[in-house]
Amino acid sequence: MSNPREAELTHMFKGIRFTTRSSPELLNSLDNFDAREDDVLLVSYPKSGTHWLAGVITKLYNTQVTITSPIEFGDISKLEELNKLSSKRIIPTHLDYNMLPRNFKNKKCKIIYISRNPKDTAVSMYHYYRDNPNLPTVDTWTAFFDLFLKGDVVCGSWFDHFLSWEEHQNDKNILFLFYEDMKKDLPKIVKEISLFLDLNVSDNDIQNICKKSSFSEMKNDTEKENCDPNHTVCALTSNRKLIFRKGAVGDWKNHFTPKQNRRFEELFNEKMKLSKM
Ligand code: A3P
Repeated sequence: MSNPREAELTHMFKGIRFTTRSSPELLNSLDNFDAREDDVLLVSYPKSGTHWLAGVITKLYNTQVTITSPIEFGDISKLEELNKLSSKRIIPTHLDYNMLPRNFKNKKCKIIYISRNPKDTAVSMYHYYRDNPNLPTVDTWTAFFDLFLKGDVVCGSWFDHFLSWEEHQNDKNILFLFYEDMKKDLPKIVKEISLFLDLNVSDNDIQNICKKSSFSEMKNDTEKENCDPNHTVCALTSNRKLIFRKGAVGDWKNHFTPKQNRRFEELFNEKMKLSKM
């Protein structure tokens, strides 16, 4: 990572690459964060369907909830800013389990973790890097692929992130979800989320929520700017238009060469040998 633009846009903290929008002071003080028992955390590695899940969750509540920007995004004033919110907080984050502020763990806050086939995540992140001026330039898919396998991308290694959370998959306060399951049967997953959050939602409401959360509806909403175009639940951009690209399962097949696929599978099998995935 010798590119000077790289240094302007990202920095390393405890071995993980962050954008400079996450200040080292904030990252250092995360453990001082005052969690509330009713906080809900929305955790993901970037490009796993975070905005989709956030869209669903906010529609499930009929009381006032605030979806904040990611906890690791901003400077030291962030903790105070979140402290001041009087409504229930839904807090997104791309942090791995080890970096999550300890008060969320102590208070056993509800946490929803969403994951996605890492091959599709890599492709989605590649396009995001290319289109997002807040991220370093990548010239080719091949170059990005190498960085992704090395974990030298923003938020670090997909494998380390997933494994750090998977270890807690059976904790009662954590719900594990997969993007692919949402694509397959969204109403089933929405029901599961509502039960996890103790929300009473009718089947009819679930159908409506699913309709409003389809890829085309969410993309249209952003294009019509029905929702604030400068508010995202991702620490990597404030531009919602960059989020809704293709929304498909299996786009990796249009990018991976057979050789890249073999390299990926080898690393996957090695890193994930103790995983149940
Ligand atoms: P693609 O780049 O593969 O299209 P995140 O919100 O974590 O940044 O993830 C973004 C990915 O989720 C993008 O993937 C985006 O298109 C996809 N996505 C966003 N909303 C979606 C929806 N309603 N249905 C399916 N996929 C969606």
